[in-house]
Amino acid sequence: MQTRAAILWEPHTDWSVEDIELDDPKAGEVKIKLTASGLCHSDEHLVTGDMVIPKEIAELMNLEQFPLIGGHEGAGEVVQVGPGVTTLQEGDHVVLSFVPACGRCPSCAMGQQHLCDLGAFLLAGRQISDFTSRHHSKSGKDLGTICCTGTFAPYTVVNEASCVKIDDWIPLDKAALVGCGVTTGWGAAVNAAAVQPGETVVVIGLGGIGMNAVQGAAMAGARHVVAVDPVDWKRERAGVFGATHTAASIEEAQAKVGELTWGANAEKAILTTGVATGDLIAPMMSLIAKGGRGVVTAVAPMTQEDVKLNLFEMAMMRKELVGCIFGNANPRRDIPRLLRLYQDGRLKLDELVTNTYTLDEVNQGYRDMRDGKNIRGMIIY
Ligand SMILES: NC(=O)c1ccc[n+]([C@@H]2O[C@H](COP(=O)([O-])OP(=O)(O)OC[C@H]3O[C@@H](n4cnc5c(N)ncnc54)[C@H](O)[C@@H]3O)[C@@H](O)[C@H]2O)c1
Ligand SMILES: [Zn+2]
Ligand SMILES: [Zn+2]
Repeated sequence: MQTRAAILWEPHTDWSVEDIELDDPKAGEVKIKLTASGLCHSDEHLVTGDMVIPKEIAELMNLEQFPLIGGHEGAGEVVQVGPGVTTLQEGDHVVLSFVPACGRCPSCAMGQQHLCDLGAFLLAGRQISDFTSRHHSKSGKDLGTICCTGTFAPYTVVNEASCVKIDDWIPLDKAALVGCGVTTGWGAAVNAAAVQPGETVVVIGLGGIGMNAVQGAAMAGARHVVAVDPVDWKRERAGVFGATHTAASIEEAQAKVGELTWGANAEKAILTTGVATGDLIAPMMSLIAKGGRGVVTAVAPMTQEDVKLNLFEMAMMRKELVGCIFGNANPRRDIPRLLRLYQDGRLKLDELVTNTYTLDEVNQGYRDMRDGKNIRGMIIY
């Protein structure tokens, strides 16, 4: 069929919205009619070159990362089912999980679906089943899909491993947020930081991920949730998601946390800035008490290796520094679980969407993100 998509032909260019040709689903695949797609900062890392596979590795894999269709935070309806699909049928409502979950690999078997072996395909852009493309440009060029999804298009074809079936009555434009941002941020607090009742938690960066880390920390029973962002209106909004205090910078947060905890410091800190840079780690860890934990959720440039960190304090104060992908969640359990909390009025989704856009306005959406105008921008089809 013919449809449209926002394509990134190479880094450091705009998204190009074009007509594309979309094939029927092959074995194990389904065609999805999307309702909405969130504008997550991770796609911006493709544009800035942070998340470009180094040339030597791409050659080794015989892989062309570009051109690709962006978008990995989507939800919609199954409109066509390929041969051999056993878990979905036409008409099912699904959230696309940005990490596929096969359910059979060692990580999935251990209840760590965010580490599913199929994650190896996230940046490869080809179909999981046979490493070919279902998406093609008008000129006949194969198009990749970021995170095996490609939600910057009203229709896409994905593997059933990327689909999590949800209750029909959940609004799909809100459910889309749980395909990445909500689960990532909420899980960064609840799973990765393992926030306990009464703790002090600092969240650094209040975008789509950070606001959900605030929301997760509050739900886990944190006593103080200190929300840090240089953008004034985002700090003001953070209270809606459960922040108890705010700071405009990490330095300001250090003073505030010292005061709140009588010098003991925070049990947990979570880094959710637009980009993770090495110079942010030491300041984040300086917010943490002995025995505390720092969680890196923000994405760094792929080749970044230099980090500023006080190693003496790390050992002698037994501080932990941990990574976190997709909120260390199990999408097949956690996506429906989070949506039921939304249904019960316990989890905020409506409040996350600041501005909506058409597919043609995708570059405006990202300009607004860069300009600090959005908690989450969302494309509605
Ligand atoms: N680990 C994962 O699985 C995962 C999943 C999704 C997104 N991410 C990453 O999480 C990060 C956040 O994504 P997002 O969509 O929320 O981005 P966003 O651009 O919407 O939000 C980032 C926020 O950080 C703030 N900020 C920037 N520098 C800061 C600083 N020094 N101190 C305090 N605040 C600062 C910005 O003002 C902005 O509000 C990105 O790097 C994204 O790629 C990671
Ligand atoms: Zn994302
Ligand atoms: Zn798996």
